[in-house]
Amino acid sequence: VGDLTAADLEGKRVLVRADLNVPLDDNQNITDDTRIRAAIPTIKYLLSNGAKVILTSHLGRPKGVTPKFSLAPLVPRLSELLGIEVKKAEDVIGPEVEKLVADLANGAVLLLENVRFYKEEEKNDPEFAKKLASLADLFVNDAFGTAHRAHASTEGVTKFLKPSVAGFLLQKELDYLDGAVSNPKRPFAAIVGGSKVSSKIGVIESLLEKCDILLLGGGMIFTFYKAQGLSVGSSLVEEDKLELATSLLAKAKAKGVSLLLPSDVIIADKFAPDANSQTVPASAIPDGWMGLDIGPDSVKTFNDALDTTQTIIWNGPMGVFEFDKFAVGTESIAKKLAELSKKGVTTIIGGGDSVAAVEKVGVADVMSHISTGGGASLELLEGKELPGVVALDEGVMTRSVTV
Ligand code: 3PG
Repeated sequence: VGDLTAADLEGKRVLVRADLNVPLDDNQNITDDTRIRAAIPTIKYLLSNGAKVILTSHLGRPKGVTPKFSLAPLVPRLSELLGIEVKKAEDVIGPEVEKLVADLANGAVLLLENVRFYKEEEKNDPEFAKKLASLADLFVNDAFGTAHRAHASTEGVTKFLKPSVAGFLLQKELDYLDGAVSNPKRPFAAIVGGSKVSSKIGVIESLLEKCDILLLGGGMIFTFYKAQGLSVGSSLVEEDKLELATSLLAKAKAKGVSLLLPSDVIIADKFAPDANSQTVPASAIPDGWMGLDIGPDSVKTFNDALDTTQTIIWNGPMGVFEFDKFAVGTESIAKKLAELSKKGVTTIIGGGDSVAAVEKVGVADVMSHISTGGGASLELLEGKELPGVVALDEGVMTRSVTV
């Protein structure tokens, strides 16, 4: 069974791996519950089909048992969203957990403690995975954000528990970040930003194979400018990536991809929210000034290019959007994607900072898909196989969807 909806669930003990790795403040309050909300549809489906849900997740990167990384603060929100009282185990495996599972009623949820309290989790220890697997009759992986980790609760457990299937969130992430990107409605534009070209090389190379238009923004553009012989002032440049930037430009040309770099930039006299700023052509950045955002002409050119598309994937901001003065480029792109999404263009936001930008502008709801993964969405966009997905039963990866 590769498909959760084909599974027989009544009275079954279902181990659900979710990514409930949410940010907590100093008082253990959840500051962003997106990942909890994203895990709800699969859990609700299981409950309404009479399953007993054993929920497992990591939180943070604890070294051994660390109270501040307990999953206890998540229980009230989970209970509220599910409309039932979620029970919480003090451990992940062992007799106490086994007893709680044995007492679990159909349609009830037991949340296990942070799976990373066991070092065996990240080591993908088979004995630990086997113990975890022994709690249940069926495994559902819905933890897209952790699917790039070959850990006991994402990968190891599948060796001892069949069927192992994808939850609805994991499937949706694959449908968009893999299906829609590999088999897009064309024209297909990719927007890649962020400060460093080095962290986006894999994504750019992979998307160059698939897209018709590539728009580049963010700090990485200055490495491309310098590679073209332009003066970049004191902008961020990765000197050891100049050749790579040149080769990426050549590759885009050879592939017939229309690669657009910003024609103008907003520059600052220091890296600070209150810096003096001015807009200049990309070819005229004076000494002592650094580019922190794309300029209005670039926004217009990018918007015109996006107007021609049917599918857009966006990863990485256009500038230092944490500073209001340098957030206009990123926010303009977010607004443009929202406008196009409403017109039926498939809009996919691939993890991390671009998600924060879309949320800041308040247009998250209108996008076709917003990834819950950071590292996982980058790896998927780079064309890598995710261990947590590959380990699932056949039928998950073979699905190729155009959305
Ligand atoms: C994330 O926040 O990206 C995931 O939850 C994975 O966490 P990790 O990087 O600690 O494995």
